[in-house]
Parts: sequence; structure tokens; C-alpha cells
Amino acid sequence: MLTVPSYERQSGVNPPLDFAGYRSTALRAPHRPLVLLPHRLTEITGPVLGAERITPADADLTIQHAGEPLGQRISVSGRVLDSDGRPVPDTLIEIWQPNSAGRYRHVVDNHPAPLDPNFTGAGRCMTDSEGRYRFVTIKPGSYPWRNHPNAWRPAHIHFSLFGRAFAQRLITQMYFPGDPLFYQDPIFNSVPEQARERLISRFDLSLTEPEVSLGFAWDIVLRGRNGTFFEPPEGGR
Ligand SMILES: [Fe+2]
Repeated sequence: MLTVPSYERQSGVNPPLDFAGYRSTALRAPHRPLVLLPHRLTEITGPVLGAERITPADADLTIQHAGEPLGQRISVSGRVLDSDGRPVPDTLIEIWQPNSAGRYRHVVDNHPAPLDPNFTGAGRCMTDSEGRYRFVTIKPGSYPWRNHPNAWRPAHIHFSLFGRAFAQRLITQMYFPGDPLFYQDPIFNSVPEQARERLISRFDLSLTEPEVSLGFAWDIVLRGRNGTFFEPPEGGR
């Protein structure tokens, strides 16, 4: 009989799907208990993402237009690991973020901050044979989001990873060290306190490219005791 691995979501370590302080989760969270479906070959082998479509330029968000985007140029790099510390190679990582003024190039983001004609805010790459990834981008700005009076999101970059299998997909957010907005952000604070640090990147001078970009390091663990935690469902905010 074929035994297939399971990628069940851990209980007790991720934020609740309905978090009181995060208003829109009240509408998005399921009202009935989740039904766990058995994992068969379809769930543990697909999808094949077609690495040949991804170019090295996809990982550099500062070269996607005729001119350079405004803002602090940074690199974000690290490794994708599984819960046993093994690297996860050849996995697709996609990121999205607002520009340096905190504005997304998205139809529902119309708050009064300028768009940057030289910044789209989306990138992707595949991890290498040691699970490493690296993006070049600009530091995202904070933005208001009307969740509660005078609510501002800490600066963050959205990450999506497919891991070893479709059923292992992780969507989360990476933050920057020392952000003064953490304390009032219900998305960040919906993650259990002992796990929040794992969502914050680390400034690393050795990753800084002299006279070009600041370097931030962030490792991502897909499952298990040291897992990076899922965020509640979010609609692009
Ligand atoms: Fe966001």
C-alpha cells in the first residue's frame, strides 16, 4: 500500500481564523469546523510550476521598468527549510508589497500616497538546491487600513510558498526589525506571542551590498516545531 505524507495544519500555534481585533476575519472565517480531506497523489505531487518560465530578473523588483523605483533599496534573502532542518529546493516563492510610500499598485488601494511608475511590487523566484532564495526590492512603506481608528500596518512583504507539495502552501508576511507599529497591529498580534519573532527579518550587515542595498535575512520553516506561522485569510492588505 502506498503511504503518502500528510501536510495537516498544526493546531494551537497558528493565529485563529477569526481574530477579534482583525475586523474582516469576522466575515471571512468559516463558521463550521474544517473538514480535513485525505491527501492523495494529487495533493502531494502537484502542481508542476514550470521553473523555466522564471527568469533571474523576476527576483529583482527594481529593474522591472524603464527607471528605478524610489526608496531604500534592500535585499531579502534566506533559506526555506522543513521542520527537520532540511532545505526545500526548487520551490516557488512569490512576493508582493506596496511601494516606498506605502501604496499598492492595486485597484482597491486609493489612499492618498503616490504611485511609483517604476514599481509594480511583485516578484518571484525558485529556491536553489540548498533552499536559498534572494530578492532585491525597495523597503515598503507603512499604510493606513481603517481596521480601527488610525490603524497603520507595520512595513511588510507578503510571501507565498508552495513547499514540496500543493497542500503545503504557506502565505505569510515578513516584517522589519524594530518597527514602531507592531504593538497596534492586529494581524501581527494575532500570531501567538512566542512565534511573532519568527516573522521579523534580521538586518545583516554582511548581506549589505556596499553603496547599493541594505541586507535583510529571513529563513522560512514550512512545518513542525519551528514552523513559520500562517496568517489569517487576507484580501491583499
Ligand atoms: Fe499588505
